[in-house]
Amino acid sequence: MKNLFKVMTLLSLALALTSCEEKAFREGRVMAGGKYVSAATLNKGKQIYTEYCMACHGVDGDGKGVAWKGMDVPPRNFKLGIIKFGDVASGELPHDESIYKTLEHGLNGTAMLPWDLKPGQMEAVWNYIKTFAPDTWVGKDKELGEKITVSKDPFGLARKSAAIKMGRDVYHVVANCQSCHRGYVTPAEFNEMSKRLTGEAGEVDEEFYKIKPQESDHEYLTIPPDFTWHEIRSAQTVEELYLRLAAGVGGTSMPSWKGTIEDEEIWAVAHYVRSLMDMRNTPKRDELVKKLGQ
Ligand code: HEC
Ligand code: HEC
Repeated sequence: MKNLFKVMTLLSLALALTSCEEKAFREGRVMAGGKYVSAATLNKGKQIYTEYCMACHGVDGDGKGVAWKGMDVPPRNFKLGIIKFGDVASGELPHDESIYKTLEHGLNGTAMLPWDLKPGQMEAVWNYIKTFAPDTWVGKDKELGEKITVSKDPFGLARKSAAIKMGRDVYHVVANCQSCHRGYVTPAEFNEMSKRLTGEAGEVDEEFYKIKPQESDHEYLTIPPDFTWHEIRSAQTVEELYLRLAAGVGGTSMPSWKGTIEDEEIWAVAHYVRSLMDMRNTPKRDELVKKLGQ
């Protein structure tokens, strides 16, 4: 009896070991963009993932790790194969470097903190994560999107106030950003801007100052931020804001503005958004709220 027990224990141990082994990668994979990643790298990535990422992103990458409940912004479900903050027009596959940037800086205002990983570790863990969505990432036939290059800021520091002024017009009249985000000008100011730019009167309805939560491909509503109140996740500098506006946010209604509005207009609105972000936690925001009555 005692021996049988011993044999059984050994057997189940052996079984457990083989099932573990089965889950290890024996072969490398060719990832989107034609990059070959070895089995050793993927196994290393799995180890890093299990140690640092799994608690939030889940054993099988579905975003439902033990810690996910109650988070305002849920961890990404990697099985969907959608990245929000890439360096390509939203909807296309981003280049690895944009993910490494996210890992290095984290996503402000969310549970996704900055990670102090070495370049080889980042490469391993991110390529392992791709294997959660093989239909999106694995295979010679998969292509990466065209990388968006950050052009030269036509305004710079010298013409910062001109940029902000133009950006305010672009935001409210040309691009109508407040159709999802919120407006930051009074009804009289909006009317003046609208008449000056389009020749037509501009009216402010009750939705103008409200944030409009948006349907998304991420299994939950996404909230277009109020730039004077929320933290901006992927961008702090004007250059980073330019990239985010040009690229958009993958799987959400935040469009890629490149090609929709002029390059100079993207720069202007990036300066304007930065100026709104500067009001966060300052008396300037209280003044604005008072002025708008909202
Ligand atoms: C404490 C919870 C938590 C841990 C631990 C965590 N993440 Fe995240 N992660 C998040 C959240 C929340 C988001 C979603 C943020 C958003 O939607 O803006 C996210 C998003 C991401 C994204 C998607 C970025 C994009 O642009 O769509 C990647 C990639 C990512 N995490 C990688 C990792 C890696 C790699 C690790 C481990 C080294 C890790 N995360 C650990 C919470 C976590
Ligand atoms: C059709 C709706 C829609 C329009 C129009 C829109 N946005 Fe967004 N925007 C969103 C949503 C939704 C998010 C939040 C995505 C997320 O993080 O989940 C967002 C996020 C952002 C972010 C934050 C990115 C980050 O890193 O956190 C910035 C900046 C931004 N929008 C600027 C703008 C500007 C400027 C305009 C006008 C030129 C604009 N948006 C127009 C829906 C919209």
